[in-house]
This record gives sequence, structure tokens and C-alpha cells, in this order.
Amino acid sequence: MHSSVSAASLAAALARVATEVEAALEDLLPPVEGAEARLIEAMRYASLGGGKRLRAFLAMETAALFSVDRRCAARVGAAIEMVHAYSLVHDDLPAMDDDDLRRGKPSCHRAFDEATAILAGDALQTRAFEVLAEADTHSNPEARCELVAALALAAGARGMVGGQMIDMVSEGQALNAEQITRLHALKTGRLIQVSAEAGAILGRAASAQRHLLAAYGRDLGAAFQIADDLLDATGTTEETGKTAGKDEAAGKATLVSVLGVERARAQAEALADQAARHLECFGAKADLLRDLAGYVVSRRN
Ligand code: IPE
Ligand code: IPE
Ligand code: MG
Ligand code: MG
Ligand code: MG
Repeated sequence: MHSSVSAASLAAALARVATEVEAALEDLLPPVEGAEARLIEAMRYASLGGGKRLRAFLAMETAALFSVDRRCAARVGAAIEMVHAYSLVHDDLPAMDDDDLRRGKPSCHRAFDEATAILAGDALQTRAFEVLAEADTHSNPEARCELVAALALAAGARGMVGGQMIDMVSEGQALNAEQITRLHALKTGRLIQVSAEAGAILGRAASAQRHLLAAYGRDLGAAFQIADDLLDATGTTEETGKTAGKDEAAGKATLVSVLGVERARAQAEALADQAARHLECFGAKADLLRDLAGYVVSRRN
């Protein structure tokens, strides 16, 4: 893939966003005392101090295309990361993927208990929408309403949760490549897509620009989940901070199981190239987003 900025500048930009979103999350999820302290502690455990912050990066870098105030964009990035963290907490539960390790630490239900993990996921999700609705997120209530609606659509039955349902009912079944592509689009793609659209919503961009960013996010999300499946099959627990080889053991339908490692990798690379091509009209301002597409498929964590 054509690389427009150096790997070092992308790494620095990712690190900067990680710091900003960490500060925003710390601010939005302060510890409390009293009977519900344990809940907040579990929410903080699941959302602070880890993760690549890819979805926040997308929200913040697409917002930068339209010169959106960085603190507003960081709130939106943090809200999306809360929904993502909730999805991981529930994904790891015994009733779902039954994973003991997340981001190199015991998963939330192992560090706390199942009831606390379920409630922490629930409360991370509602806190995310509360943050988007607050005036500090955008001066224009219409923009805040659009953010709420777009994230709800992406995270719900027609998006992430719908995809998780397909993932669960497909365990042990032989899906074809087309069915797996749809599964990926819902369980992972929609949230990544809305992260890339968030900047356009914040920046009150023309709908043509929002559509291009949505298309970028859609292809990037598809590439991202194939890379996740490849890492499950070929990466180590030390690299990913997740138990390696769980998909095959659980009989998960993945593109790796249908196409094999080499063809799955080629498809992820083609999707990443396609994602980057949607950014042409943004010129050099979109260099980091363009290079992110290459990173998404070459990453080892
Ligand atoms: C993991 O997402 C779950 C998937 C949708 C594949 P990430 O790989 O973005 O997880 P973190 O946030 O970096 O831990
Ligand atoms: C999870 O997909 C997608 C979510 C919506 C959380 P996976 O089950 O493959 O994610 P990991 O590998 O556990 O992070
Ligand atoms: Mg899963
Ligand atoms: Mg999982
Ligand atoms: Mg996985």
C-alpha cells in the first residue's frame, strides 16, 4: 500500500489520541464512594488504561478534517470507546466468548464477577449516550441528536448487537464468505463506520463528505475484523493480550476458516486499499487516516 506519512508519525498520532481520550474518560468516569463504588470501579477497569483507541482516533482525525475543537472530538471519541468497552465486557462473558483475558489483564467478569460485569457494560453504554447529549459535546443540539442517533443505530440490533447475535448462533456452523462478510459488517464494521462519520457530524460537513467517510469506515471495519480473526489464528497471547486460538476452538465462523490465512490476508489488504481510496478528495489532510488503513491490517496487537 502507498504510504503517505511515516510509520513514526502515525504511531505518534495514535499515542496522542490515546492520551487525550484517556484524559477525557478519566474526566467523564470519576471514581465515586458509596454503595455503587464497585460498579464505577468496574466501568473504569474496562475502559481506562488500555486498547488501541482506534475508534477514538477515527472520530478525532475525521473531526480534524473539519477543524472541530479537539476537546469536543475527544468527548465523542471517549463516548464511542465506552460503547466499545461495554461490547468487549459482554463479549468476554461466559455466556458469550467466555474469555479470561482482555487487554493483557483478567477480563472484567474475572476481575470482578459476572453480575458486576453485566452492569458495568450496561452503565458504560448509557453513560456514552449521556455524554453525547451533553452541551459540552457540541453547541448545536441538532449535531448532538445526530451523534446519538448514529451511534444508537450502529450499536444496536441493526449493528453491533445484531452482529453479536449472528456470531453466537453461527458457532459450529459453516457460513460462506458472503455470510461472514455480513457478520463482520454488523458486529465490528458499523461501530468503526460511525466512528469515521462522527467527525463529519461534528463538523457539519456536506452529506457527500459524510458518505465518503462512512464508506472509508465500512471498508476499514471489514479489513479490521479479518485482521482480528487472523491475529486470533496466527498471533500470540503476548502480542494481542487476548487468549490466542479461541476462534477455532469455539467453532467460530471466520474468514480464516473459510479462505485460509493467505487469502484472508489478501482480502484484508484489498479492503484496506479500497478504504484509503475513499479519502482522495480530502488530499494530504487525510494522510493519517490513509495510513491507518495500512496499520489496521499489518498490526500485531
Ligand atoms: C477488539 O477490538 C474487538 C473487535 C471488534 C475485533 P480492538 O482490537 O479495537 O480492541 P482494543 O480496543 O484495541 O482492545
Ligand atoms: C467481537 O469480536 C466484536 C464485538 C462486538 C465485541 P471478537 O469476539 O472476535 O472480539 P475479540 O477477539 O474477543 O476481541
Ligand atoms: Mg465475540
Ligand atoms: Mg471475543
Ligand atoms: Mg476476535
